[in-house]
Amino acid sequence: MISNLLAQNAFFKGLDPAELDLFIEIAEEKTFANDEMIFKEGSKGDKMYLIISGTIEIWKSEDTQARGSRLARLREGEIFGEMALFDQGPRSATAVASLNKETKLIIWQDEKIAKLINVHPETGNKILNNILRKLSHRLRIANDAIHTLLRANQYVAI
Ligand code: CMP
Repeated sequence: MISNLLAQNAFFKGLDPAELDLFIEIAEEKTFANDEMIFKEGSKGDKMYLIISGTIEIWKSEDTQARGSRLARLREGEIFGEMALFDQGPRSATAVASLNKETKLIIWQDEKIAKLINVHPETGNKILNNILRKLSHRLRIANDAIHTLLRANQYVAI
């Protein structure tokens, strides 16, 4: 069941069944209640997540108490929490389970992914390419949103 989900996921495009198994072997599964926080903006990021079922909202806030603005709503098959793994920085936003009774996630520890990539560099290359593709796609969407907001501000200023 997990292998079917991973095989269909864009993050694992091009991986053969044996390579998929490598990722399944190091994965953990966890269920979150509605409104439960997965992680908070600014915290240390040492895990990457795949949504098996449910919905995750990504929120950005300048006030640690408030939720702020919702940047994205991610659904089944989406991965999140990958940014802090790559730039070793703090979480860029808060992730919260939402809209469902429960949200099921697959979780990978960063050191386990790093070890896998080290031992299996060809598999690592495929995964890193797929993640780059996804990040580029998200940047395009973010640029469109920035553009829309800037235009709206200019309109107000005139
Ligand atoms: P990370 O910075 O580790 O923690 C917050 C996560 O939210 C981030 O990784 C991405 O996976 C995700 N994220 C941040 N910004 C966006 C966005 N604009 N669209 C979709 N997902 C995002």
